[in-house]
Amino acid sequence: MKLTHLRLSQFRNFAMQEVSLRPRLNFFLGANGQGKTNLLEAVFMLSRGESFRSGQHEHFLKDQASRARVAAIVDSEVGRSQLVLDFADGRTSASYDGKRTGFSTLSAQIPVVLFSPESLASIKEGPDQRRELIDSVLATRSERDSKLLREFAKILRSRNVLLKQIAKGDTRKSTRDSLDSLTTVFLLLATQVTETRLRVLEKLEPEWKKSAAQIFVPESATKSLVDKQANSITAVEIEPADVHFRYEISGHDAMGWNADQIFDAFSKRLEQLSSRELQLGASLVGPHKHDLRFFFGPNDSRFYCSQGQQRALILAFKIAQISVHHTTLGRYPILLLDDVMSELDAAKRSRLMEYLEETTAQVLITATDLIWSREFREERNAVFAVQNGNVTVATQGAIRAVGQGDFSKSPADPLEDAAT
Ligand SMILES: Nc1ncnc2c1ncn2[C@@H]1O[C@H](COP(=O)(O)OP(=O)(O)O)[C@@H](O)[C@H]1O
Ligand SMILES: [Mg+2]
Repeated sequence: MKLTHLRLSQFRNFAMQEVSLRPRLNFFLGANGQGKTNLLEAVFMLSRGESFRSGQHEHFLKDQASRARVAAIVDSEVGRSQLVLDFADGRTSASYDGKRTGFSTLSAQIPVVLFSPESLASIKEGPDQRRELIDSVLATRSERDSKLLREFAKILRSRNVLLKQIAKGDTRKSTRDSLDSLTTVFLLLATQVTETRLRVLEKLEPEWKKSAAQIFVPESATKSLVDKQANSITAVEIEPADVHFRYEISGHDAMGWNADQIFDAFSKRLEQLSSRELQLGASLVGPHKHDLRFFFGPNDSRFYCSQGQQRALILAFKIAQISVHHTTLGRYPILLLDDVMSELDAAKRSRLMEYLEETTAQVLITATDLIWSREFREERNAVFAVQNGNVTVATQGAIRAVGQGDFSKSPADPLEDAAT
């Protein structure tokens, strides 16, 4: 599955932009504030229906335009299809080959894995960023799981509306009855989401250990290995790292729990917290309150590991996600790497590039320069320059200029149609 064409109309700082993508690595180079993240955001939104950064509907529309559109052509084993997102009247809607559809259908067509500076920082960020790590696995692995997440989010919103009404003094019996019946469904969906997360984590854990071992070497060892091998630590045989997940439900580690255990824990907790929920007007029990913690030996990496080591654990998590996706579904998701190369040290960057080269995945990478890259001249790859909402195919001369941060020499050649 490859994204061959992308068209952005009135989206963020793009007026009308067509981009023909190559099947492997696609580099988008440009100074800050030119539209690189906007472009990756468009692809991410096609897949997930929402952005990875906070954005209200009007923020997606170029300079208060009344509507915007992101369209893509995807080639897969079953043929060519067209995916469209329309932004109009305060709503985002999706269509697939001309027919209106739900976002989960698009997720299945164009699964993406995003590497961003924010995601790499998830260990030290809040629990919502860590939950997003695991939910991004659910959202891309099947249409069913993607739907499940949406259904849960919807029922959580509805339940919170009712709780808020009661908190504000609504004493009608009908409101309480609605809350009770909603709570029954809420508990079932909350259990399903939690169980799915746990089963996914169990599947990821061995791959994560393997991948972490390759990237994550105690700093003392890293130094000697790097000294010996000039930045390449991957050739060394390393045991699966002594790392594990802890999935926290109300302070308990729930790894290995089955659906009944989860449901029982929720029911008990809900009983304890029900009056508090009515006071606060918010759901206090459920997967939106859980946390995923990354342990290094007996230690929580959040307090124990350096920032570089924390990034390595997340990098390993993402690589595990991609590998499991590939072994389960027989194809790679599209990988979006937004400005991450500058966040990684030479050893981690080199491991990531090596991994990308091992896969056959299509990759969209943004950066301000290419100094770290080795392989970009290959036929199946492309380099684009992004400047003030314009994307152009970059020539070698321009790449050198862009690499040096000099945009006055950016090329003016129109985008070639590289589609096959
Ligand atoms: N709705 C919008 N209309 C016009 N310009 C926008 C809109 N949203 C963001 N931008 C512009 O997009 C630019 C940021 O683009 P971004 O992709 O984040 O940059 P970078 O290349 O650094 O990743 C900013 O200059 C901002 O003003
Ligand atoms: Mg950016």
